[in-house]
Formats: sequence, C-alpha cells, structure tokens
Amino acid sequence: VNRVAITGGTGLIGRALTASLVADGVAVIQIGRRASSDIQWDFAAAFPANALDGVDAVVNLAGEPIGKRWTRSRRRAIRESRVRPTEILARTLAALPRRPAVMVSGSAMGIYGDRGDDRLTESSAPGSDYLAELARDWENATRVAADAGIRVVQLRTALVLSRDGGALPRILLPFRLGVGGSIGDGRQWMSWIGLHDLTRAIRFAMASRISGPVNVAAPHPVPNREFTRALSTILSRPALFPVPGLALKAAFGEMAEATILASQRLVPEKLLAHGFTFDDADVETALHRALGTARRR
Ligand SMILES: NC(=O)c1ccc[n+]([C@@H]2O[C@H](COP(=O)([O-])OP(=O)(O)OC[C@H]3O[C@@H](n4cnc5c(N)ncnc54)[C@H](OP(=O)(O)O)[C@@H]3O)[C@@H](O)[C@H]2O)c1
Repeated sequence: VNRVAITGGTGLIGRALTASLVADGVAVIQIGRRASSDIQWDFAAAFPANALDGVDAVVNLAGEPIGKRWTRSRRRAIRESRVRPTEILARTLAALPRRPAVMVSGSAMGIYGDRGDDRLTESSAPGSDYLAELARDWENATRVAADAGIRVVQLRTALVLSRDGGALPRILLPFRLGVGGSIGDGRQWMSWIGLHDLTRAIRFAMASRISGPVNVAAPHPVPNREFTRALSTILSRPALFPVPGLALKAAFGEMAEATILASQRLVPEKLLAHGFTFDDADVETALHRALGTARRR
C-alpha cells in the first residue's frame, strides 16, 4: 500500500492513522471540508471524478460526532454526513479507471443495539434502534464498491480509548475531580479498543484479505463496573459515586441509552481468525497506554 486516501483524516482516529502511515512513508491524501484538504469535498455534491484514480486504498471515517445529545437537526447531520457521502464515494471508486484494491469504511458497534450478555460476532443480527439502523445504512452504502470488485471492510468500532478524544476524556473528568463511579447499574458490557490497536487494525484491514463487517474491539470486553475499577486504580482516585442511568438519560436522552448505557459484548472473531494480534488485549494495559501512565508490576 503506497497511496491512501482518507475522509475524516482530521478526526481522532484519522489523525492517528495518518501519522502511522506517514511514518512508514505512505502517501496520504486527505479528503475533507477544510480548504487545507488535499481534495476539498462538501460531502453532498458529486465527488471530483478521477481525483482518486490509482490510489491503493480508501479509508472513510468522516461523520458528524455521535456523542452529543441527539436533537432533530443533529440526528439529520449524523446521518447525512455518513450514508449519502459513503454511497457517493463508493460509486466514485467503482467508476475509476484504476480502482483501489480496498475500501475501509466506518461503522460502529452501535449496529448491534443493546444486547445484555450476548456474545456478538460479525454474524450476529443487528439491532433496531436509531444508531443500529444508521450503522446498517452506513455499511450498506458501500455496496456499489463491493459490486465493482473492490474489497470492502466495514469497521464495527468499539469505544476508542485515547486521552486525545472520543468518550474517555469525558469519562475521566469526574474521576479527576474525585467523584468518579460506575455508570448506570455498572453491569452493561463495554467493548473497547485502544487507539493504538485500532490504528493497527485499520492497517491490517488494508493489507490482509479480510472483508465485510469486522468487529474492531479488544478480545476482553468488561462490564462497566470493572472498567470503572480499572480506571480508579490507574488514576489512584476513588470510584464511589455511581452515575445513575436516569440522570444520564435526562441529560443526554437517547444518545446515552444507545451508547454508554447500552450493553455490547463484542467478540473480534474475524480479526482473530485472520491472525490479527492485539498489543493491548486487556483493559488495564490499554488504559495505561491511552493515558500515558506507567504500568506497575
Ligand atoms: N471514537 C470512537 O469511539 C468511535 C467508535 C465507533 C465508531 N467511530 C466512528 O469512526 C469515525 C471516526 O471517529 P473519530 O472519533 O475519529 O471522529 P472525530 O474525531 O469526531 O472526527 C470526525 C471526522 O469527520 C469529519 N466530520 C465531522 N462532521 C462532518 C460532517 N458533517 N461532514 C463531513 N465530515 C465531517 C471531521 O472533519 P472536519 O475536520 O471537517 O471537522 C473529522 O475529520 C466516525 O465516523 C465515528 O462515528 C468512532
């Protein structure tokens, strides 16, 4: 893989992926809304016809952030920044004289909905809430590319652990203030992936023969209370103040129900079957790396 085009390259995941590729001498073409993008695109109009001719891989990560209260207009923006643009991109790639070998496209573990203790593999049925339907449509929007013979991978990404963005900085804040605690009843399964392994998994998706939906989650998900305990130990802060689910629902509405309160126990069946190895397979190790703290022995 010598030339990679990325949408969402300015985001948390895109920045880490870009840095990793550039460090290995891969040319990265940024597709985005900003004037500083290599290819500027508004995610609504047609994509410049042959701008991506001859790239080896396309990684599609752009999308309006999910983790804020879903007002009506935000729901629309979340959907409109993903489904249609992905379809336009897939159609564009399919029509290129020299098509990329692979399109790696975003999705999320939210596709499974709230599933209690079920072990969720890529062949588990999707859920039916707003996020599940969105993720399903987002995945299906790549179909034209797959039909044209491009290998398509959809990243069913778990909660990303990084101190630079995503949910972790917000989960950390109360701990730093000494009022941390488990969320809801603490029994919901949290599937997570360290940003370090996520970046490696995306590169693995580009280079291997894996295709279709892929659970991008570490092999050891944990109930929220266990995650909370690990955080509390690593930060040397108490975890005495549970955050009631009702309060979160009142503050964040359906967004909280579909994300931090939902129970999702993912098995990274396909990654493991294709021989991917996790550097940070357990939550303590991944949190140490994400937070830049030294692991005590
Ligand atoms: N972080 C997680 O825990 C997690 C988990 C599962 C799935 N995902 C998915 O993975 C993808 C990347 O995640 P991330 O955490 O890196 O996201 P992020 O930090 O919020 O970055 C989002 C990227 O999308 C672009 N973007 C935002 N709103 C847009 C819009 N309305 N139209 C077009 N582009 C827009 C941003 O570009 P600008 O520079 O133009 O703002 C930015 O590059 C997202 O689609 C997310 O849903 C993330």
